[in-house]
Amino acid sequence: MKHFLFLTFFIYCLSVNAQKQIYTDFYPGKLWFDTEGDIINAHGGGILYYEGTYYWFGEHKGEFSNAALVGVTCYSSKDLYNWTFERIVLPVSDDPNSPIVRGSVIERPKVIYNKKTDTFVMYFHLELKGEGYNAAHVGMAISKQAAGPYTLVRNSRVNAGKWPANLKEEQKKENPDDAWMLKKGWTPEWLKAVEDGLFVRHHFKEGQMSRDMTLYVDDDDKAYHIYASEDNATIQIAELTDDYQNYTGKYIRIFPATHNEAPTIFKKDGTYWMITSGCTGWKPNEARMFSAPSIWGPWIQHSNPCQGKDAELTFHTQGTYILPVHGQKNMFIFMADRWCPDNPIDGRYVWLPVLFENGIPVLKWVNKWHITE
Ligand code: GAL
Repeated sequence: MKHFLFLTFFIYCLSVNAQKQIYTDFYPGKLWFDTEGDIINAHGGGILYYEGTYYWFGEHKGEFSNAALVGVTCYSSKDLYNWTFERIVLPVSDDPNSPIVRGSVIERPKVIYNKKTDTFVMYFHLELKGEGYNAAHVGMAISKQAAGPYTLVRNSRVNAGKWPANLKEEQKKENPDDAWMLKKGWTPEWLKAVEDGLFVRHHFKEGQMSRDMTLYVDDDDKAYHIYASEDNATIQIAELTDDYQNYTGKYIRIFPATHNEAPTIFKKDGTYWMITSGCTGWKPNEARMFSAPSIWGPWIQHSNPCQGKDAELTFHTQGTYILPVHGQKNMFIFMADRWCPDNPIDGRYVWLPVLFENGIPVLKWVNKWHITE
């Protein structure tokens, strides 16, 4: 009997840990298990490199809903292939009055480290429970440890009472009389009005909308929040204060009224490259790419960086972050999600190397790859 119990326990352990494995390669689109053998649950994620360790923050997703039922997850790794679950770093709240109550929407969390205050700062897209995607808030949380836990500091729209640096004087009207135009979605006259600052004006007092987002820390330690604003019609780039916990008030709009989402950014040899998606919800579409000599522009558009089969659908994914590999000057990883809205937990991660052809970033599908010098 004793032997039988031991054998049963042994078989149970084997089956529970059946997926434990040591990775030496990336397998884009395949199930990816953490060091305990559980499937990694960190969607719409971003990565922080801090003192020799990478920290992957992402959305915990369940089987039936895309709403936040658990919170923001964090995994750590030394090699980018093998990830250890740290904890739920920003758990949803049970308090119905909390902005991050269970059932709110918490998407695309990103964390950066502030040297001046020795603090880790997380920004994420927040939608208030029961309000669909109308709140368009950014949430900000801080921690003294990379792997959390993080405390929510505030949630709001962006830069209330401030005009973008690249809005013309005649476009700045605090009490615009064209509110009726806001609902004329996607008609040519609406697109023209949006380009002309329709949403910027109407959201001037409460602040600009902020949905899909990323953060970027430049070589001079200045940090930026880059987000889909103006009801997803326009990407805005906003400078953060020295402690990264607020906005300086300086921000610009880029490519207004052209509907870019899922902004990702990196810098190589002094050029800033941004890869975004179009606006088709969970369905994949063709990536767009832009470059600029300064974060403030001028930004120019390039063709789709993806090449080969399914390039027009970004290989059935949508970008979430571009990771510079530590210690390697020219190695960047394009991190993307293959969303699965009917069973969100089954969304897959697709990480691809950013290749360069004549200095221009290119993305090509590979089934398996690893980082080489
Ligand atoms: C996508 C966006 C996701 C999520 C989704 C909701 O376009 O990139 O992060 O917000 O829409 O439909």
